[in-house]
Amino acid sequence: MAEPVLEVSGLIKRFRKFEALGGVSLKVEPGTVFSLLGQNGAGKTTMIKVLLGILKPTEGTASVLGHPAGSVAARRKIGYLPEDHKFPEYHTGPSLLDFYGGLQGIHRAERKKRIAYWIDRVGLAGREKVRIRGYSKGMKQRIGLAQALLHDPDLVFLDEPTDGVDPVGRREIRDLMLDLKRMGKTLFLNSHLLGEVELVSDHVAILNRGKLVREGGIGELTGARPAWVFGFAREPQVFLQKLKELNVTMIRRDNPGSVPPNQWEIYPDSEDILTVLVRLAGEDAGGLRSLQPHRESLEDVYLKSLGKKEAVSA
Ligand SMILES: Nc1ncnc2c1ncn2[C@@H]1O[C@H](COP(=O)(O)OP(=O)(O)OP(=O)(O)O)[C@@H](O)[C@H]1O
Ligand SMILES: [Mg+2]
Repeated sequence: MAEPVLEVSGLIKRFRKFEALGGVSLKVEPGTVFSLLGQNGAGKTTMIKVLLGILKPTEGTASVLGHPAGSVAARRKIGYLPEDHKFPEYHTGPSLLDFYGGLQGIHRAERKKRIAYWIDRVGLAGREKVRIRGYSKGMKQRIGLAQALLHDPDLVFLDEPTDGVDPVGRREIRDLMLDLKRMGKTLFLNSHLLGEVELVSDHVAILNRGKLVREGGIGELTGARPAWVFGFAREPQVFLQKLKELNVTMIRRDNPGSVPPNQWEIYPDSEDILTVLVRLAGEDAGGLRSLQPHRESLEDVYLKSLGKKEAVSA
C-alpha cells in the first residue's frame, strides 16, 4: 500500500482543561476522499487546524505528506478552505485570487491563466467585477474553493465546503471534488451533510466529543448488515409468523404512502435463509409485490454510532 498522505497518532488537543481531541489516530490514503463527521463542537475544525499547523497538538503526532504537520514543506502542497472564512471585502474574485496566487509565488502569466480557469471552474464566470462585499454566501464558498485550489495542491482540506450553497451549487462542488480525486488529489472533508458525504467519500470517520467512534470505508460502514425489503399488498400474516419462528430480525417500515403499502426490512443471517424467505413470501396470501436489497444510509450509521438511534437487534 502507498504511504499515507496523512497520519495522526494518539492526538490530544486541550484548550486549558477542555479536551477538544481526546486521543485520535487515523490515516488517509493518497487519492481518496476522507470525511470527518461529527456534531457541532465534536472537534472537526480543531483536527484540521492541527493538521495545518495552526494549532499545536498537546500530545501525539501528526504528519502530512511525509512531513510533520505545520512544516513549510508540508504546507506548500496543501490547499485549505476554512469554515466561516472572511476575505477582504474590497477585492473582486480575480483580484483576491491574484493576491493569494502572488503570496504563493505563482508567476504573473501563470497566475492569470489559472485565475481565469478557476473563476470559470467554480461557476463565477461573468461575475468578475463583483466585489466580495456583494457576494452571496454561495459565491463566497466558491471563491474560497478557487483560493484553496489555485496553487495545485496535492492535499486539500475543505471545512464544510457546501455550507450555504444551494442544491445546484452543491452538486457542482461535489462534481468538482470528484474531478479532483480523479486527478489523484487527496481530499479531507469536514461536513454535516451526510447524504452528500456518502456520494463523494471513500472513507469516513465519526468524531464524538473529540473521540473517534466509528471509522471505515463507506461501503464497509453502510453495508455491514445486508438487509432486504419485502413489500406486500396486504399484511403477510403467515410470513411474519414464520419469521418469528425462524428468529429472523424484521423491522416494519412506516413510510406513509409507500408502494406497496406493507414493507418490512428483513435481516437474514445467511443466503440459505434468504432463499427460504423468498419462497415463503411468494406463497403468502399477502401478495408479494417487491423485493429489494437495502443498505443502511450513512445517516443511519452516523446516528447509531452517536447513540441517537437504536441499533437493530437480532
Ligand atoms: N481556541 C479555542 N479555545 C477554546 N476552546 C476551543 C477553541 N477552539 C475550539 N474550542 C472548543 O473545542 C471544541 C471543538 O471545536 P471545533 O471547532 O473543533 O468543533 P467542530 O466539530 O468543528 O464543530 P462545528 O461543526 O460547529 O464546526 C468546541 O467545544 C470548542 O468550543
Ligand atoms: Mg467546525
